[in-house]
Amino acid sequence: MKKIVLSLGGSVLIPTLEEHRLAAYAEVLKEIAGYARIYVVVGGGGEARRYITAARELGCSEASADEVGIAVTRLNAMLLSLVLGDAACPLIAGSQAEAMAYGETGTIVLMGGITPAQTTDAVAAVLAERCGADLMVNLTSVDGVYTADPRIDPAAKRLARLTPEKLLEIVSTGSLVAGANTVIDMIAAKVIQRSGIPLLVIDGRDPGNLATALLSGTHKGSLVIREGKNPLPITRDR
Ligand code: UTP
Repeated sequence: MKKIVLSLGGSVLIPTLEEHRLAAYAEVLKEIAGYARIYVVVGGGGEARRYITAARELGCSEASADEVGIAVTRLNAMLLSLVLGDAACPLIAGSQAEAMAYGETGTIVLMGGITPAQTTDAVAAVLAERCGADLMVNLTSVDGVYTADPRIDPAAKRLARLTPEKLLEIVSTGSLVAGANTVIDMIAAKVIQRSGIPLLVIDGRDPGNLATALLSGTHKGSLVIREGKNPLPITRDR
């Protein structure tokens, strides 16, 4: 069976505890789990940023603020696991090795952050490399990879397809403080480049975008791929 690792941004899954997309994502994840083995790395979202801000105001280091962020990503993963019920592995993976082992159960594997000074994008990219994923998908709150930050540069253009080298060049200008928000983090971009695993970046604010991209191959995001065959759509190969 094909393997797909999702970096599910907290900013799209749980922007706040009052407004979230947990139920809608659970439905989509159950649907795509019929086509591929699914690993989901959940981000921190707005609540992680609030906790990180509180930790900083208490005078803690960036690394400690990162640990606070990691705890929230794991809480978010736990909430998603509860909504998924039997479709998900009931344990939240606390390491790459655990995620690999839980994948053998055939259920949807969930994890959050693990190490300070990175984001859940990096966790997802390393997991994709470790499990030999056919595809990594970054579900984020922008609609793809732009030539520059569109919030700063109005001339920035979205790239429908780009090489991992171009992605690295674009993200190398981003910052790495706790709670930073770039399209994908630098570590993730480096791992994608060295592994050659195709990366799809799509707007995750509409959960239906994920099913449409994987099952019909249609999307309005960015595909990061060096050469060869388009990995979309995903077909069952059991
Ligand atoms: P993320 O930045 O991955 O979640 O983690 P997010 O902000 O919800 O993701 P997007 O932007 O929507 O895609 C939240 C914070 O947790 C810490 C970092 O401080 C990060 O900014 N973290 C997370 C780590 O330090 N290490 C990890 O492995 C994961």
